This record gives sequence, structure tokens and C-alpha cells, in this order.
Amino acid sequence: MTGATIETTFRTAIVPAAGLGTRFLPATKAVPKELLPVVDTPGIELVASEAAEAGARRMVIVTSPDKKSVVDYFSSKPELEATLERKGKTAQLEKVRRAGELLDVEVAIQEEALGLGHAVAQAEPNLDDDDTAVAVLLPDDLVLPTGVLSKMAEVRARYGGSVLCAFDIPKEQISPYGVFDVSDTDDADVKRVHGMVEKPAPEDAPSTYAAAGRYLLDRAIFDALGRIEPGSGGELQLTDAVALLISEGHPVHVVVHHGGRHDLGNPGGFLRAAVDFALDNPDYGPSLREWLIERIGTAH
Ligand code: UTP
Repeated sequence: MTGATIETTFRTAIVPAAGLGTRFLPATKAVPKELLPVVDTPGIELVASEAAEAGARRMVIVTSPDKKSVVDYFSSKPELEATLERKGKTAQLEKVRRAGELLDVEVAIQEEALGLGHAVAQAEPNLDDDDTAVAVLLPDDLVLPTGVLSKMAEVRARYGGSVLCAFDIPKEQISPYGVFDVSDTDDADVKRVHGMVEKPAPEDAPSTYAAAGRYLLDRAIFDALGRIEPGSGGELQLTDAVALLISEGHPVHVVVHHGGRHDLGNPGGFLRAAVDFALDNPDYGPSLREWLIERIGTAH
């Protein structure tokens, strides 16, 4: 399989960022959770960087009318850049420019938070005829290390259809997740998906493979989104559209990702991510480590 084949599998990433962020109130009254900094970089830049690394050329951010700052973050800041340049602050200048140089950024508006599936559907008018598949990345889900989208593109090149991402989770911890019903392929890290169960009790879980916020979806997803009914809370669920495609024989596979993940959507998960990234940061890591050890009261 050539790099060129993989690269042409998708070139558009959709990043839904129109949610209300209720788990992060009161901060999200004024600041979209996608802009909260993990050390110094907003989560949405981290996922934009991941998408670009996997070959995406543009990112369609789906946002709400009062969260346009999520999109503004990617535009250039000529006055700030000129000031930093004049003062010789080259490291800061590089940081300011970095996000805007990753890929082309477009916006789609979701007027009302009617669910993840509804948010993804709002990006369809932005697509070109040659967008036969799109990547969807949830900006509050950090999947580490990056690179799973490239493996997902390889799987689509082999089997066609759509490819999702899963983590193998201990059975007793599976309840908060969407869990895949799968069968094996000849690759231990690639499974064929037959269905999905949301938030099952451990004894009812069809597997230990839990869904993560990375999707490589065949364009057929948009037609499916137009044919499903709203589910719980009146929301259009992306997984219901995937389930409809499966029931119609559309191939869906998961790549089992070996690595870590951080849920940036709630303060507890966000703090873990911030500490994890800060410990690896040459400027802040060493003193944070010392302080944490002192604060916790043990060297182990
Ligand atoms: P979440 O459920 O994690 O985000 O959706 P939320 O709704 O903002 O958070 P809480 O539950 O109120 O705290 C996952 C992703 O899907 C987007 C969110 O912005 C988030 O990035 N989303 C969700 C939309 O864009 N539109 C929606 O209607 C729902």
C-alpha cells in the first residue's frame, strides 16, 4: 500500500465544537472548553495538529453562533505578530503562527446543540465531490500517541467503508463507554464491527473495546444521518447513523489503539492531561515534579 493511497483516503477533518460544555461550568460561560489550554496550547490546536499529521488538508470546525472564538483562534494576528517580531520574540511568534499554518480552517454553524450526529451533518455543505470519506475528531478527547488516523486510513484502503477507534478497557471499567460488538480479522488490532452498546453494565458488554473520539467515515454517513430519528434527549447520535450503515451491510471496522487518552471535557480529566503534558515540558516539568512529590508527601 503506497503513502499516496493512504493520503488520498481523506483530506477533510470535521471537528465538532458546538456543545454546551456543561461539565466545565462556570468557565464555559465565557470560554469555550476547546480553548482551555493544556499547559499553553488549546485542545483544539492539539487535534488540528493530529489531523494535519495524518494528511488532512482542511478542518471544518462545527461551532455555535456564540463560540466563534474557537475559529478565530486559527486566524492570523497581524498586530501581535508585528509586535513580537519587532521585539525579537521569535519563539512566541512561532507559537502564535503555528495553529494557522497547520491546515485550511473553515466553519460550519450548528444553531442549536442537537447532538454530535447533527453537528457532523452541518459540515456536509463544506465538502467537495472528491471528499469520499471524512475524519471526525472530537476536540475534548486526546488520543495518545498520535498516529491512529493513519492506521485507520490503511484499514479503509483495505476493507472500504468506515473505520472507528477503540481502546481495550478492563471489563470492570467499561460502563461509562460505548462498547463495540466485534469479530476478529487477521490483524489482532483490527476488528470487524457488528454493533455497539452504549454504557453497558460490565456483564452485558459485548466486548472490552470502548469507543474513542476518532472516526474515519465514508461519505454515506451523511445520507444515514438524514435517515435516523433523534435518540435520548432529542439528540441525533452519530453512533445511530453508524449502526444504520452496519445494518445495511456497510463495512465498519475498529482499530484498537495502544496508548493513552485524556478526556478534556471535564475538570478531572483535563487536570490529568495538563499535569501529563506539563511533566513532559522542559520548562515546567522538573519543578512541577518536585512540587507534586512534596505536595503528595511521598517520593514514590
Ligand atoms: P460532549 O457531550 O463531550 O460535549 O460532546 P458537550 O455537550 O459540550 O459537553 P457537556 O456534556 O455539556 O459537558 C462531544 C463533542 O461534540 C461536540 C462537543 O462540542 C464536543 O466537542 N458537540 C456535542 C457538538 O458540536 N454539538 C452537539 O450538539 C453536541
